[in-house]
Amino acid sequence: MAGGKKQDKGKKNTLSKNKQKALQREQDRKQAVFNAFSNHYEQEWGAERWQGLLEALQKPVRHCLLINKYCHTDDLGTKLTPLASNLERLEYLQTRCLVSRDQSRYPPPSHDRHKLRDYYILDAGSVLATEALELEPHDHVLDLCAAPGGKSLAILQKLDPRMGGQLTVNELSNDRRRRLRQVLDEYLPPDVVEESITVTGRDGTKRYSEPEQYDKVLLDAPCSSERHLLHDEKEFEMWSPKRTVINAKRQLALLKAAAYSVAVGGLVVYGTCSISSVENDKVISKMLRKGKVPLEVVRRKWPIGEPTKYGWIVLPDKTEGWGPLFFAVLRRTGVEKEDKVASEDEEEEDHAQEEQGEEEEEEEGA
Ligand SMILES: C[S@@+](CC[C@H](N)C(=O)[O-])C[C@H]1O[C@@H](n2cnc3c(N)ncnc32)[C@H](O)[C@@H]1O
Repeated sequence: MAGGKKQDKGKKNTLSKNKQKALQREQDRKQAVFNAFSNHYEQEWGAERWQGLLEALQKPVRHCLLINKYCHTDDLGTKLTPLASNLERLEYLQTRCLVSRDQSRYPPPSHDRHKLRDYYILDAGSVLATEALELEPHDHVLDLCAAPGGKSLAILQKLDPRMGGQLTVNELSNDRRRRLRQVLDEYLPPDVVEESITVTGRDGTKRYSEPEQYDKVLLDAPCSSERHLLHDEKEFEMWSPKRTVINAKRQLALLKAAAYSVAVGGLVVYGTCSISSVENDKVISKMLRKGKVPLEVVRRKWPIGEPTKYGWIVLPDKTEGWGPLFFAVLRRTGVEKEDKVASEDEEEEDHAQEEQGEEEEEEEGA
């Protein structure tokens, strides 16, 4: 009996030792990913900037309230009056957005008398990116990667369905498209959804059948989303520099399709919430070199953030916590040249060149 107990005790100790070792290995692996991540971005941003940027990225994400113009004003007033002393308008945005002075949490959105939600909670950088579209009330707009729909709602605050304004929202993922539809139904009167909004579920990397259909195209591309990763242990473990390169390939394919869909003279806004230049400026640079659709970069100074080679970036260490949000504004300047329409062979050649270009750019940056 006594011998048996001893054995059990020994087994328990071995088990716990094994468990301890496994835990240690897990810790070491996490630390290695973090070190690789930090070294990668330290090289990109420089040691001094990276320290402050990393700290800012690790802080809780900052939000503002995008006020829904379709919500009944009296109902919104009743809700916001008790909070008024702690809320101020973000004056530098044309779109009506409020922010809490002390960065406290907001009460969840509520319904007005017509069952429409009063505000949407999002990053001010996201609203700024939609303002870069220079929207007119009558514009026909495509939001190519739209779910869950925050930027679509910001666009809709500027469009006027009575003046012919139309929005197509596209989203590849079925689940996310379902959420997008739900958001649109919750925030917009049924006649606006019915008459002015089209929801599609295409692969945005493929060209839409009709070229030059839209006045403006927003491409809020899927990206590495580093701030989000830093707040999600499981997701963070998946980070690698390779993932950035894979994202950049998809982003370029999406951007080519976006440019194909915009009318001559119209604007494409390319955006990401990544801090990686591979997913930001380098995608624009490749597009300008390799795209079949002629585009020019539109430069402008924005109230928050800083310029990059081709666009603008809002980063939390320099903007009271907003971002990251990169965006670049591209104007289509002409028709796609016939002789430049890609055959499959040419596309493959493009891929090979892109890979080579990537290596060259990496060397340039080193
Ligand atoms: C950055 S999120 C968009 C966020 C959205 N614009 C917003 O403000 O709420 C990118 C979206 O693109 C979608 N996506 C990824 N690949 C796509 C593709 N090939 N075509 C269309 N959508 C795609 C993802 O499912 C994701 O919902």
